[in-house]
Order: sequence, then C-alpha cells, then structure tokens
Amino acid sequence: MKFSHAWIEKNPWLLIGLVLLVISVGGLVEIVPLFFQKSTTEPIAGLKPYSALRLTGRDIYVREGCYNCHSQMIRPFRAETERYGHYSVAGEFVYDRPFQWGSKRTGPDLARVGARYSDEWHRTHLNNPRDVVPESNMPGYPWLATTGLVPQDVTPKMRALKRLNTPYTDEEIQQAPATLEGKTEEDALIAYLQGLGTLIKARN
Ligand code: HEC
Repeated sequence: MKFSHAWIEKNPWLLIGLVLLVISVGGLVEIVPLFFQKSTTEPIAGLKPYSALRLTGRDIYVREGCYNCHSQMIRPFRAETERYGHYSVAGEFVYDRPFQWGSKRTGPDLARVGARYSDEWHRTHLNNPRDVVPESNMPGYPWLATTGLVPQDVTPKMRALKRLNTPYTDEEIQQAPATLEGKTEEDALIAYLQGLGTLIKARN
C-alpha cells in the first residue's frame, strides 16, 4: 500500500505537490527551448532595426490605440494566409518592443499591409477612411497630417532600445533627429505601415 497510487491520491497535499511538479516540468520543457532556438530569437534575413521615422510612427500607432482594432499576427491557417499572405514568423518581430500582435480584429490584420497601398491612399484613409472604403467604421485621424514631430524625442528612445540590444550605432542615434526635421506624425505613421511585413512576400 505504501507509495502506491491509491496512497498518493489519499494525501491531498502530496497530490497537489506532485501535480504542480508534473505541470512545471511539462511547461518548462515546452517553453525553455524557445529561448535558445534560432528561429525564435534571431532576426529573419534582411531585418533591420526601425529607422528613426518608422520608430516614431510606431509610437504614434501605439498612442492612437490602433491595436485595439488591428492585430499584427497572421496565423498559419489557410483562411488567414489566403487573405493576408505568408503567416507571421517570430524572427520578424525581434526589434518590436512591445509587440503589436494583438487578437482583436475589428479591422483587418496589418502584419503585411506594407506596400499594399500607396502613401496617398493612406493619407486619404487616415484623414477619413470613408473616402476610400465607404462602409468603414474606422475613425479618422485628421490631426496627424497637421502635427509636426519633435525630432529630439527619438534620441532617448533609440538609446533605450540600444541598451536592450537593438543594434543601433552611436552615429545613427546622433543623426536620427535630423531625419525627422519637417516631418508630420502622418509621415511617420505611414512610413511605419509601409514597411510592415514586406520582407516576406506579401499576398501571393
Ligand atoms: C474602431 C476600430 C479601428 C481603429 C481604432 C483603427 N482602425 Fe484601421 N481599420 C478598421 C476597419 C474596420 C478597417 C477596414 C475598413 C477600412 O479599410 O477602412 C480598417 C482598415 C485599416 C487599414 C487598411 C487595411 C487593409 O488591409 O485594407 C489600415 C492600413 C488601417 N486600418 C490602419 C489603422 C491605423 C494606422 C490606425 C490607428 C491610427 C487604425 N487603423 C485604427 C478599424 C479600425
């Protein structure tokens, strides 16, 4: 009887302890290797850190809450790949802090929206989506076109990302503000959108 299964089941605390042990081992075996696998930790070929303009645009995307209606993660299912293109892979997101994967899709997934429309389309769409998609319920963001960037703001962001191992050079960080001179928030946001997911072939 001692140490038999029946005995374990009659000792709730021992049972709880053993259950926790089994779940932890099972969990760790699944999760820990992901931290060491190249396919999940290394950037895909050609992936570069965000330029100052795109990085700024990305922050505007976050500030305006675009993620409340748009995911950036194409799942590996036929229905998704037919509509949006190649499914998302981990190596596309190594410079994304924080990720914009999301799960709420009031609007379409944007993971591969880059280069799908012209800059002009985006300008019209962001100003008033109904001008290009009459049935759209996306809000307009007309102020982006008239709000200038504050170029110096990008420096501390790039420094912080560098500390987190994004490979910006000191020279890039130093020259970054100059590249934002005279640009609007809309320019930055569109630059961000136009680069999304373009390294892996967009829709077939
Ligand atoms: C209330 C929900 C909502 C919010 C918030 C929202 N969108 Fe949308 N978005 C939609 C819907 C619905 C569509 C599909 C209709 C259309 O194209 O307007 C869409 C379409 C789009 C498209 C075209 C995608 C495609 O593949 O055709 C882009 C690009 C886009 N949104 C960008 C943005 C950006 C950038 C923001 C934040 C500034 C934003 N959206 C905020 C709902 C939203």
